[in-house]
Amino acid sequence: MKVESFGTLSNGNQCDLITIENDFLKIAISNYGATLVSLIVKDLELDVVKGFDDVKHYENDGAYLGATVGRVCNRIGRGKFSLNNHIYDLYINNNTNSLHGGKLGFSYRIFDYDIFEDSIVLSYISQDMEEGYPGRLELKVTYRLVDKKLYFETEAIAYEDTICSITNHSYFNLEGIQSDSALNLLLKINSHQIGCLDRNGLTLEEVLDVKDTPFDFNEFKTIIKDIDNDHLQLHNGFGYDHNYILGDLSLKEACILKSNQLEMKIFTTLPCMHFYSANFLTDKPKGKNGSPMTYRSGLCFECQYYPNAINYSSQIKPIVKKNEIQKHQTIYQFDY
Ligand code: GLA
Repeated sequence: MKVESFGTLSNGNQCDLITIENDFLKIAISNYGATLVSLIVKDLELDVVKGFDDVKHYENDGAYLGATVGRVCNRIGRGKFSLNNHIYDLYINNNTNSLHGGKLGFSYRIFDYDIFEDSIVLSYISQDMEEGYPGRLELKVTYRLVDKKLYFETEAIAYEDTICSITNHSYFNLEGIQSDSALNLLLKINSHQIGCLDRNGLTLEEVLDVKDTPFDFNEFKTIIKDIDNDHLQLHNGFGYDHNYILGDLSLKEACILKSNQLEMKIFTTLPCMHFYSANFLTDKPKGKNGSPMTYRSGLCFECQYYPNAINYSSQIKPIVKKNEIQKHQTIYQFDY
């Protein structure tokens, strides 16, 4: 276990980088945004998540690298929703929509933390009406190592009725962060339906059956195989930036990603997984140790509630009632 400085924010606040490890995995987490900065598979000496080596780059970057995203991740149409007959207006930061919790979502907040032998528990209190969301919410995020698995667990306690959908926004590349493309990795996603996107990237209520489309990952295929297919939905997303429906709130296998030497399985209690092929990465600035941050060089598997579900009757809504605790678990399991 190690705690070191991760640099200084523009307001002078210092941030930390905390490293823990077991026999197989070593992770570094920053208390800035409860961010997963690195994930090293020790036997292969491979860091498989993209990140920066100073907190100042996270502060100025819109890519949410490795961040804990909330209070509600993904887009909320026109930043509007109604709860208990009251209409709430959120900060609009992505075309006409509110993205990833607004201007200063959880990814841009400093968390308190406690370190244990095999885990780090980070906590953040979001005040009533912060970024326009109703009710005080206390969030606990745990990163825990168990053998070749990384557990990402969230616990949100609501003091008033509110909405909450937390995801981890890591960009994975199983060939390691020095690879400048993730497109040749093999992917399998256990889902038959995606949400359709409009031209602003907002997931609509309308779903698409993936059969016979470039979105079908029920059998392993490389990302590159269909990503440039002339499908309207790939145009709308500038590549893959789509929400796959997984099922209910029980723990289930969401997807498997494979390289020649490494495999990662993701399990989650969340009902959906947003698959984003890093279509907006620009390589400015460079990542850790000068690693490329190029277009499509990482893959995000953001387990979450269906985007904008609060406004759709057909999907599980991310409502947390007063005095309730919303708990979720996403597990990244490595095999090699
Ligand atoms: C999410 C969105 C993408 C993009 C990234 C951040 O995954 O769905 O469209 O905004 O976050 O760059």
